[in-house]
Amino acid sequence: MAKYKSKFVCQDCGYESPKWMGKCPGCGQWNRMVEEVATATTAPSAHVALQHLQGEPARVTRITEIDTVDERRTHSGYAEFDRVLGGGIVSGSLVLIGGDPGIGKSTLLLQAANAIATQGRKVLYVSGEESAKQIKLRADRLGSLSENLLILPETDLERIESHIKTHNPDFLIIDSIQTVYRPGLTSAPGSVGQVRECTAFLLRIAKTLNLATFIVGHVTKEGAIAGPRMLEHMVDAVLYFEGERHHTYRILRGVKNRFGSTNEIGIFEMREKGLEEVLNPSELFLSERPFGVAGSCVVASMEGTRPVLVEIQALVTPSSYGTPRRMATGLDHNRVSLIMAVLEKRMGLYLQSQDAYVNVAGGVRLDEPAVDLGIALALASSFREQTMPPHDCYIGEVGLTGEVRGVSRIEQRVREAMKLGFTRLIVPTKSLRGWQPPADVQVIGVETVQEAFQVAL
Ligand code: TYD
Ligand code: MG
Repeated sequence: MAKYKSKFVCQDCGYESPKWMGKCPGCGQWNRMVEEVATATTAPSAHVALQHLQGEPARVTRITEIDTVDERRTHSGYAEFDRVLGGGIVSGSLVLIGGDPGIGKSTLLLQAANAIATQGRKVLYVSGEESAKQIKLRADRLGSLSENLLILPETDLERIESHIKTHNPDFLIIDSIQTVYRPGLTSAPGSVGQVRECTAFLLRIAKTLNLATFIVGHVTKEGAIAGPRMLEHMVDAVLYFEGERHHTYRILRGVKNRFGSTNEIGIFEMREKGLEEVLNPSELFLSERPFGVAGSCVVASMEGTRPVLVEIQALVTPSSYGTPRRMATGLDHNRVSLIMAVLEKRMGLYLQSQDAYVNVAGGVRLDEPAVDLGIALALASSFREQTMPPHDCYIGEVGLTGEVRGVSRIEQRVREAMKLGFTRLIVPTKSLRGWQPPADVQVIGVETVQEAFQVAL
């Protein structure tokens, strides 16, 4: 077992000490000392340039002469997964997949690993959480297996490295970063120091061997992948696998990607036989929509390059406490408060004394301002106990003066709504410029929230 020196470094001021201390003598902060490898030669820090990792000295090149054909992508066997990765797996890339325990990270990677192995590539799946037998039991449920899929139940990173060198795989999966450890460090697996050093170690392996590597990371209660945020800077892409335990579908979301757009989502459904792709998400999100009730409406949100129709539900009821309750699930809480203030001031809706709950049906999260108009109408509809026409879809950002602002990619949104049988679309007038809506759908342009109310309620 290699033995090297470790040191404890304060994450705030950089104070170094050979021993762990609760309080940093440098800056006086508590609990900021993290174990690191002391000798630079055994563990390059995350800041070491990639050229150095690949063993070549860097040189200056004209931008026009840089060769880009090198970026070969492998398909993971799942179009939804590829989309989030930016069109497939880039060789030599290091990808972190985070998510709550039990959400399906291991299942997703095992399925992708098998699909890649079926294409004739060698995949090494390292698990620190399950035995080889357990993995086989799970894999058997997923269907036919490829002999190119190698399983290694191991947690010692140095032994893992020697197995990589012997078997020379094309893809590596580490499940999970919290269970592997470098034997030279005294901190427990899963601690900040271990997680960071292990990631730096894997980064070096990925870059020197040009080996595409996926790391699974469990998420802490606060919602961050355990370990410092620095981990996110070290890897090429960070994907989160989310979903509600009680719902069967799961969303793979890109939060960082050096090789593609970050707003892409991939949607899967957890079935008896593993994860299945959902290629028509709007249908799924609208499948349980109630008809003829107040407080429900449909919006068209762009999730990356794809328009998705989602139902927004609002419930406004008289408050029985001094301070009314406001709750938003799947939406930014502040955004909802702002829209409520606009409704109060510009539309004269007396919402001050009302509790308000706003929910995106199906557990999706929407951050796009184009859903504002839908939120406003759902709130007003519930407050007034008036229903909206069921085949309406609302698109538009709401400004502080009650104006409805233009949104991007209106044509794609309208087409998606038409595909799902919506016959009337309320959109910002500004977005209608320079574009002719299809003849078989009614598209109504509005400039203010007032106008939208006249049309819808
Ligand atoms: P898992 O991939 O082990 O989650 P993670 O690695 O993120 O902790 O997912 C486990 C859950 O998925 C478990 O609750 C059972 C469920 N599951 C199915 O419903 N069907 C299946 O075919 C498989 C393999 C798992
Ligand atoms: Mg797992």
